[in-house]
Amino acid sequence: MNRKQFLQTLGLGAAAMAVESLPGASLLQAAEPQLPAERKPLPKNAERLSFGLQGQEAVVARPVTAIVIGAGARGNVYAAYSKQYPASLRIVGVSDINKVRQQKMAHDYDISAEHQFGDWSEVFRVPKFADAVIISTPDDLHYKPCMKALAMGYHVLLEKPIAQTAKECTDILRQARKYNRIVGVCHVLRYAPYFLALKRVVDDGMIGDIMSMQHLEPIRFHHMAHSYVRGNWHSSKDTTPIILAKACHDLDIIRWILNKPCKKVSAFGSLDFFIKKNEPAGAADRCFDCAVEQKCPFSALKIYVREHRYLYVFDSLPEDRAGKDAKIMEYLRTTDYGRCVFRCDNDQCDHYICNLQFDDNVTASLQMEAMTSYGGRKTRIMGTKGDIVGDMESFTLTDFLTGKKYVWDEDISKLPGYEGHAGGDWGIMKDWVMAVANEDEKYLSSTIDVSVESHVMGFRAEQSRQKNIIIKM
Ligand SMILES: NC(=O)c1ccc[n+]([C@@H]2O[C@H](COP(=O)([O-])OP(=O)(O)OC[C@H]3O[C@@H](n4cnc5c(N)ncnc54)[C@H](O)[C@@H]3O)[C@@H](O)[C@H]2O)c1
Repeated sequence: MNRKQFLQTLGLGAAAMAVESLPGASLLQAAEPQLPAERKPLPKNAERLSFGLQGQEAVVARPVTAIVIGAGARGNVYAAYSKQYPASLRIVGVSDINKVRQQKMAHDYDISAEHQFGDWSEVFRVPKFADAVIISTPDDLHYKPCMKALAMGYHVLLEKPIAQTAKECTDILRQARKYNRIVGVCHVLRYAPYFLALKRVVDDGMIGDIMSMQHLEPIRFHHMAHSYVRGNWHSSKDTTPIILAKACHDLDIIRWILNKPCKKVSAFGSLDFFIKKNEPAGAADRCFDCAVEQKCPFSALKIYVREHRYLYVFDSLPEDRAGKDAKIMEYLRTTDYGRCVFRCDNDQCDHYICNLQFDDNVTASLQMEAMTSYGGRKTRIMGTKGDIVGDMESFTLTDFLTGKKYVWDEDISKLPGYEGHAGGDWGIMKDWVMAVANEDEKYLSSTIDVSVESHVMGFRAEQSRQKNIIIKM
């Protein structure tokens, strides 16, 4: 049972949801007593796999110093690592055009006035004053700050997607090589204990040679509405197509697990539901004015006010429930988060299938679905000696010869920061801090060259979908 489920058993569902919604929520976990592991009984002829959870602390001679560029949701998650492990990381500068966020981070991390900046470019108008920058600005503001930071000698932690085109991605790769700097790409799932264990059993040959892989990314209907219909990633042109904006993690996981170059890609998908023609009779521009709001699962009032989901997008919310709800309503009247999901300016696909052929005829499929009630990536891997079925909390490996099952279901609630991408958010921080402190990118699993390759798979998939052709890599 994790902390959220625990709170729910106590009837504190709202608290559980608030925990889910907070940036840097993982910090709250650090102070919590650890909950006992609750595991399902194993089936007959089964054995539990345990590789032991690695701690998240980067043990370094002196704290790495970093500037956060983009003090939004992700910037706060990474900065919070330094609160938990002050001997590993220190945040010494902040840049954000949103004054409230800039000031909050400056206050939270005691950042001196001369190192508080507005636009990202201001950071680079002063001489270098930290080891590294953390770039967590919107997708269209990754390329320029990253190129500039590398040229000035900063190491970089770069949010995904790396950039908006394949060419920009390879430019960043070249720039990192030219200035001999480390770029850690936030493919955080690679650092989650679940995926690390999955990778380990595959690399140990427990299922023989992989023939194929099937991977599902269930977005959840309310997350789709929040991020890809109303929210920051509603426009593929201003950000990246959803196959990158949402699923570059999944392409990267597939490429990483299979450990072979991709040869061909084909993709299908479209935006079919969140469009004007599907609006119900009585709909209005905003949920406030809608006659059928109570009957709509995507209602902004339901998602933000009644369920208190994704509240991290709203700055300066009061603590008390009434004050908080009044402020949320104000945001819903004035921002895109209050708009009818059938009347937004969105163009991201709400269902997407991608077929991939790798070296040695190994095949993989990636399915990304908006219409699910559940989250958590589902993965099946088919090998010559056995197979694996997993759901991001646990996986079961079955050996064809003996019929024996091996179950991985480690209790990750023991890890500080476990709530962020199944432990991956702070897992990457540990490895990135180690890489920067030792000036050695080998500490990183997601080095820039490999990450660029899986991004290119995404750009090619989008080409295939749009042109209705199979693309050779
Ligand atoms: N690794 C992951 O799993 C993961 C998850 C979610 C988002 N992301 C990526 O992280 C990035 C940030 O996402 P987020 O959810 O934190 O968004 P966010 O909107 O919460 O944060 C972005 C911040 O950048 C600031 N900003 C905008 N323009 C700026 C400028 N010119 N100079 C300085 N700051 C500026 C914004 O004011 C905002 O505070 C995106 O690229 C997103 O795709 C990655």
